[in-house]
Amino acid sequence: MKRSYSLRLRLTLIILLPLLLVAGLAGVWQLNNARSTASDVFDRSLQSAALAVTNDVALSGGDALVANTRKILSDTSGGRVYYHVYAPDGVIVAGYATPPVGIPTSADGDLSPVYFNGEYLGREVRGYRMRTRMQVDGFSGVFTTTVWQDVSIRAAFVQDLTLRSLSVISSIILSLALIVWFGIRIGLWPLSDLQQAIDLRSGEDLKPIRRPVPVEVQGIVQTLNRLLGQVTEVMATQNEFISNAAHQLRNPIAGVLALAEAVRSAKSEDAMRERAEDLVNAVKDTSLLAQKLLTYERAKAIDQTSLKEAFSVNKLLDPLVSEYRNRFPPDVEIIWTPAPEDVRITGDRTMIREAVSNLIDNAFRHGGPKLDTITVGFERLGPDLSITIADNGVGLTPDQIRTARMRFGQVSENSGGSGLGLPIVERVAERHGGRLELKDQNPGLVVRMIISVGTCAAASQPADFTPTQLSAAHPE
Ligand SMILES: Nc1ncnc2c1ncn2[C@@H]1O[C@H](COP(=O)(O)OP(=O)(O)O)[C@@H](O)[C@H]1O
Ligand SMILES: [Mg+2]
Repeated sequence: MKRSYSLRLRLTLIILLPLLLVAGLAGVWQLNNARSTASDVFDRSLQSAALAVTNDVALSGGDALVANTRKILSDTSGGRVYYHVYAPDGVIVAGYATPPVGIPTSADGDLSPVYFNGEYLGREVRGYRMRTRMQVDGFSGVFTTTVWQDVSIRAAFVQDLTLRSLSVISSIILSLALIVWFGIRIGLWPLSDLQQAIDLRSGEDLKPIRRPVPVEVQGIVQTLNRLLGQVTEVMATQNEFISNAAHQLRNPIAGVLALAEAVRSAKSEDAMRERAEDLVNAVKDTSLLAQKLLTYERAKAIDQTSLKEAFSVNKLLDPLVSEYRNRFPPDVEIIWTPAPEDVRITGDRTMIREAVSNLIDNAFRHGGPKLDTITVGFERLGPDLSITIADNGVGLTPDQIRTARMRFGQVSENSGGSGLGLPIVERVAERHGGRLELKDQNPGLVVRMIISVGTCAAASQPADFTPTQLSAAHPE
């Protein structure tokens, strides 16, 4: 199963990862910044130290440095500065005897100062050399002042500055992480509130969810409400079916029981035989009713997504018509016009056969004494296909049609049946994306079971069906 991470974790990561990246970049920038600032500041203080030393040497003849200069030298930017001044003849005037190694040499007349990186007593140092024309103790010429300081002092300064920045950045990130982690929990509260509300419901309580929810969740709640509505509807129809079935089966079963009693208490063998005959018929009727009830439920339950089987309607209906021809008396003719091309339908073949069989049976059973022709054929209704069954019997008025379409609705009295035939046909048509149409055509009734073209195999649809096949059954 695909793993799904919690919303809280997702949101925290989505917010924090880019922040961490930005913080990383800021850290690198800050490190470079600290390096260049440090080198600037330290170079400047080396320069000041060199100037102060030169000044003192000029004033005191190299004998003493003033207190201020000593202070500068002992602690410039956090570390000692070494110095060294020598006269034009190369004699040391003041400072440390050994200068650092690595001082660049410069031409005699060149008085411009230089910064350099060198080595002093095995340590890496940064230094500044300046050359000044001056007079000390009556001795005049170009005096050279060199100051230098350990590089490690700068490095320590940069490290310190960087660490401070990093600690500020990381405490900001940490507090942000905490704010996001707990903030999201508070932000997602409406979701847990909704879940609690749903948890509290019982299985019976399928009312739509009414509580106000954030706009992001409204879609889910709407879908859930729609689903709840559908479940309620399904449960209602099921309950209705159960009570209808119980009601419809109660009388026939009571009849069967009464007949069985009558068989038992029959006085003579002839009477018993007669009652047993009635009993068999009553049981047949009851079984038919139960069967129709189940078929009706099956028709309702056809799942459109599982309608994958493609079959030829001609091949399905041909044997069915033959079966009825054999069953009907010779004065009732069935005119069967197969589709001109072999139409294939994707659907539930058993239920379509059952539906058409109901319609042919209806025409014969309810057509009345004048019925002599039943027509079975096809019509093309726009993009849809109609399996059309017409008869020239008594027909139905619009009011009677309304009754006939209802569950258990029957118009003609004592015709047997269950009143479920047409509802079964209607459900089957609907489940195949179509509908049921009943029309009185005086004489007789035309019933169209329409199936959506989407469920028919497109390549083999007939080019054009016309209702002419039907009118042939009813010559004026
Ligand atoms: N072709 C028809 N001609 C006249 N009446 C019909 C025809 N088809 C159906 N009916 C009427 O519609 C009613 C409902 O039909 P149906 O749902 O098939 O139930 P059933 O056939 O079990 O009575 C029938 O009882 C009958 O009165
Ligand atoms: Mg019927």
